[in-house]
Amino acid sequence: MASAGDSGTGQVTQTQGDAADQNFDYMFKLLIIGNSSVGKTSFLFRYADDSFTSAFVSTVGIDFKVKTIYRNNKRVKLQIWDTAGQERYRTITTAYYRGAMGFLLMYDITSQESFSAVQDWATQIKTYSWDNAQVALVGNKLDLEEDRQVPTQDAQRLATELGFQFFEASAKDNVNVKQVFERLVDIVCDKMNESVSGDAGALANGKGAGLKDTSPKSTGCAC
Ligand code: GTP
Ligand code: MG
Repeated sequence: MASAGDSGTGQVTQTQGDAADQNFDYMFKLLIIGNSSVGKTSFLFRYADDSFTSAFVSTVGIDFKVKTIYRNNKRVKLQIWDTAGQERYRTITTAYYRGAMGFLLMYDITSQESFSAVQDWATQIKTYSWDNAQVALVGNKLDLEEDRQVPTQDAQRLATELGFQFFEASAKDNVNVKQVFERLVDIVCDKMNESVSGDAGALANGKGAGLKDTSPKSTGCAC
């Protein structure tokens, strides 16, 4: 399990270069949540390392990877937390919700059960995170279209109801992986521009001002 710090102690999986890199304009903490085996870890490995394995090693507790991206000439360091979907780790994983600016809520398009749980995951976000945290609902395993149990329209409707972004994706075939993260970063940026005082110092050292900590003057993040 990784430590709560962002400097990479404990069982850390990000490349040391990225983790230690202090040369960034903004840092965003993102969390990936959803039922066990929907593909959260695979999705993160595809995004951060461009790798995929069909072996299933269920995540124990929580872990993270770091990736720095460029959005409109700004270096944005993403600290992406990968949570265990198994119920028994719920107390540990929900403790990490509060610092997250964005959530990637994942289900598996071939598992109605994982989709039925989305509402509960949304309630967890509402309970444990900042009010203004942004959420992308992601139906993973799009490559298994022949085994689909969750119609696209049902998921799109639920995402609209909940006020979430919506994507279908495949970690295996690398479909919509980068797009999901970039969209999430963009909407987090948009929200900051609306509601945060623009305390880039707080964000830059990874502590991150709460998104609902509003101030009359906003300098925005210019992402
Ligand atoms: P927990 O850590 O237990 O919460 O599970 P997880 O959500 O992290 O699932 P994980 O990424 O470990 O993937 C579970 C299984 O689904 C593995 O066997 C993966 O290879 C497989 N898998 C993940 N993404 C895809 C995908 O896009 N397509 C297909 N076909 N299989 C996938
Ligand atoms: Mg996992």
